[in-house]
Amino acid sequence: MSTDLTTTFTGIRLQNPFLLSSAPPTESESNILRAFEAGWGGVVTKTIGLHPVVNVKGAKTKFLRADADSYKLSMKKRPNSALHSSWNWELISDKPLDWWIGRLSRIKKAYPEHILVASIMAGSGNDKELNNWQTLTKACQDEGADAVELNFSCPHMDRVDMGSNVGKDKVLCSVVTQAVKEVARIPVWVKLTPSTTDIAQEAEASFRGGADAISSSNTYPSLPLIDADSLEFEMNVEGYVSPGGLGGPAILPQSLAKMAQMTSRFPDKEFSGIGGIATFEHALNYFLLGCGTAQVCTAAMLDQAIGPNVIRGLLDGMTAFLEKYADKGWNCLEDFRGLRRSRIVPHSQIKRPEQLEYHGGYEEEHEGYAVVSS
Ligand SMILES: Cc1cc2nc3c(=O)[nH]c(=O)nc-3n(C[C@H](O)[C@H](O)[C@H](O)COP(=O)(O)O)c2cc1C
Repeated sequence: MSTDLTTTFTGIRLQNPFLLSSAPPTESESNILRAFEAGWGGVVTKTIGLHPVVNVKGAKTKFLRADADSYKLSMKKRPNSALHSSWNWELISDKPLDWWIGRLSRIKKAYPEHILVASIMAGSGNDKELNNWQTLTKACQDEGADAVELNFSCPHMDRVDMGSNVGKDKVLCSVVTQAVKEVARIPVWVKLTPSTTDIAQEAEASFRGGADAISSSNTYPSLPLIDADSLEFEMNVEGYVSPGGLGGPAILPQSLAKMAQMTSRFPDKEFSGIGGIATFEHALNYFLLGCGTAQVCTAAMLDQAIGPNVIRGLLDGMTAFLEKYADKGWNCLEDFRGLRRSRIVPHSQIKRPEQLEYHGGYEEEHEGYAVVSS
């Protein structure tokens, strides 16, 4: 049986389930064209807003590395070290909607078989802002975008009614998604922040608003480390920092935990896995938890800006995986998607040694507690 890398997600047919996530790899027309040429099934554009943003002075992203033979962690480039994470405090696209108009349609015309998802963001403080979400949605779908992804997840916006502050508020998740759905003729993906206690609640609110899929995770709020020699943050502007977002290998296990909260609660809904993916083995975790697509940022940034080697590895890895399990009758993602979702259970349900009695964490008899009689 031949292997089939194609997949259908929110009704959209993709040549393969791998997309570049919304970030520097998808911030320009030339990058997106190169990404499609390299083989990515789709891209999510760098988040588009109505107004230009102004980024901080100096570097917007750096990479934290761990020494192979010690516990040293530092952003300093050095031999014998491996990538730990990316750290960034970059805002959304510094090009306004007008810049993207014309370019999106040109990209879509050049690569009609590749999937172009427009990431968008507006405020949430009043009706005017809800209209801005609708303006962005209509403009991107008129340009031929296959879907929109609502950014409810950037951890470091300079305005309090934007980004992860929307994703932390269940009412706003519903209200903004619903406003977008009123005008959307294309699927609506919602990218949630991982910075809440139970992300399944914000997912539920977004689904209630009409979301067709949830994407997660964006980066995790974090600080750069302080250099022990200079006593300065490794990344700063004139000595000052502000919390930014952690991505890359360090967030893979955390992001999987967030994803599992959602996929086990909503096994029939659609999810796009993001966070720490560089190889097929990483993406496989998300697929086995129930995700239908996987998105990549940090690994692609470090591989010629758009990840030609990363996508080659993902495609080769998936082909080899399907060949390896051909005898199980698996020839596409749908055949193994979600297979490990039911293996995540409450701690009290994990087996204890047989010789020890276990009562789910409670004493069998309530020793030490007074029995109250009426
Ligand atoms: C420099 C940088 C800029 C980013 N910009 C955006 C953005 O504009 N919109 C968005 O939804 N996510 C943005 N992200 C988050 C990524 O899309 C992705 O969710 C996150 O980096 C986790 O994936 P990774 O571990 O593969 O990097 C950005 C990430 C980085 C590192």
